[in-house]
Amino acid sequence: MVVHTRIILHEKMHSYKVKLRDLAPELERLTSDERILDMQVKLCGCGLSKRKPICDESHHMIQGEKPGAIYAYDSELHGTQLWNEYPEPPKPKDLQNA
Ligand code: FES
Repeated sequence: MVVHTRIILHEKMHSYKVKLRDLAPELERLTSDERILDMQVKLCGCGLSKRKPICDESHHMIQGEKPGAIYAYDSELHGTQLWNEYPEPPKPKDLQNA
């Protein structure tokens, strides 16, 4: 089994609120009901939702995070602080030689 590991930074502490009409403009061909088209969808901005791309309110778990620090979360949303501040990311050229 091959395991691929990535570190993806998510800086938002909350969701992105998007109107259904902006998320799927083709809906306007199916309905002109403004209540449906203006319905808000909350998209995950924190990276912890188990229902991505939809926010499942997991972002409440990160409200105590220290600003600027870097945390890692496991699948059970147990968080660990890795760094006190964001380290300079390696340049793509440096990664090729690693
Ligand atoms: S923003 Fe990620 S779960 Fe709500």
